[in-house]
Amino acid sequence: MGRREFLKKAIIACSALCIAALGAIGAFLYPARTGRRKQQFVYLMEEEDLPRRGVRMVTFSMRSEEQDVVKVNRVFVVGGERGITAFSPVCTHLGCFVNWDANKKTFICPCHGGKFNINGEVIGGPPPAPLKKLPLHIENDKVYVGGKV
Ligand code: FES
Repeated sequence: MGRREFLKKAIIACSALCIAALGAIGAFLYPARTGRRKQQFVYLMEEEDLPRRGVRMVTFSMRSEEQDVVKVNRVFVVGGERGITAFSPVCTHLGCFVNWDANKKTFICPCHGGKFNINGEVIGGPPPAPLKKLPLHIENDKVYVGGKV
């Protein structure tokens, strides 16, 4: 191995070590929040109370054991042609809570006028993506919604 080739390999090895070290430092200083949050299902309502047609807003609370806090959330449960769906009320633009306008059959964001149809799809305004669907689970006539705490 010549001197030039040795130096080339040494530089590549040092660069790889530096990148790995920077990655480890970054992961230590800025751990991913989502990695620490656990998905859990919480009771939402009785199955017979699910809307067959239309939208119902439901408030529920989730307890985080790690942080020892209870977080109150809400969800829109929608019954329609596509069955039962749960949507997060958080607007995908900048995170405001949307409201359901039953007359216009539209989710409307009060912050910048974002609009979503009953399927959560963007129909107006600046939101870049549809409303986030939340998982639903039905067991023994009880409906549970999944979320991360
Ligand atoms: S936060 Fe909803 S439209 Fe901007």
